Amino acid sequence: MTRTIAVTGAAGSIAYSLLFRLAAGAVYGAEPVRLRLLEVPQAVDRLEGVLMELADCAYPTLLEATATDDPDEAFAEADAALLIGAAPRTQGMDRADLLRANGEVFRAHGAALGRSAKADVRVVVVGNPANTNALIAAHHASHQQRADGQRIDPSRFTALTRLDHNRALGMLAQKVQAPVESIERVAIWGNHSNTQVPDLADALIDGRPAPAVLSEVCGGAANARAWVRDEFIPQVANRGAAIISARGASSAASAASAALDHLRDWTFGTNGARVSMAVRSGGEYGVPEGLVSSFPCTVDADGAHRIVDGLDLDDDRRARIGASVAELAAERDEAAALGFV
Ligand code: LMR
Repeated sequence: MTRTIAVTGAAGSIAYSLLFRLAAGAVYGAEPVRLRLLEVPQAVDRLEGVLMELADCAYPTLLEATATDDPDEAFAEADAALLIGAAPRTQGMDRADLLRANGEVFRAHGAALGRSAKADVRVVVVGNPANTNALIAAHHASHQQRADGQRIDPSRFTALTRLDHNRALGMLAQKVQAPVESIERVAIWGNHSNTQVPDLADALIDGRPAPAVLSEVCGGAANARAWVRDEFIPQVANRGAAIISARGASSAASAASAALDHLRDWTFGTNGARVSMAVRSGGEYGVPEGLVSSFPCTVDADGAHRIVDGLDLDDDRRARIGASVAELAAERDEAAALGFV
């Protein structure tokens, strides 16, 4: 089966870390891909260089790569869309300015996806504010009249919190000196912002409860709780800012890697493993219906994502999740006030 994948912000650094792995089979293995690269008109020239390099890799799995500044052309018959391009925050911009700039981008991209992509397209929003950008794009996609009479369901729009999930995995693995693949059931809840809730209360390390393993490593349960509260949660939640400060640029390779993990698992299933995805809430765990919030999810072999149900959250996690979800609700309300939803 040949897949058509649209990538926005395709001349940027996240895309530069992503496109070559995608073309080489990081998501679809040996299945051939067609890449449709979208950029704003002033960056399309730079895309020509990316196209040359993709051609020069001579990947057997890359059937074709094209570049355009027309969203309908980029999204035509897309099986998946990685929405990386977003308006960056510049000097003097406040949150409303950022939402206004991105609302325009994601309204246009959502509408074009709604008109032109396959009805069962998988959309992964990477550009920030990712959760609310996904909500805006989903809204506009689902309101389009399509030639085939179908309608793209808002559940086809997700936002990337796999980056935070992978950061949490990496940090925990380092702390307990265990391989990453021995760790299961780490979760990220809420917004992809510093209010997010990295959660390892239900995590297992080699099948043992993470809190018990941490207690041994930290010299007691109280020390383990302090490490989670004072180091693990704030470091995962603020990792993006720490990278910007250290590198002078935001995360690119790790964001690209996480986006590929997200798309691969959403396409082929997680075989029961839990991953973090920001998905449309149906009211689960008190998250208001319609918000795009991160939850622990599994993906069936047929590619249907499901929020893990029946988790017993303690008061601390409930309060933290409530605060992050309140931020998402405020972003949605601002987007609504600006006329984007
Ligand atoms: C990240 O988590 O690394 C990015 O979302 C940070 C940013 O603001 O670009």
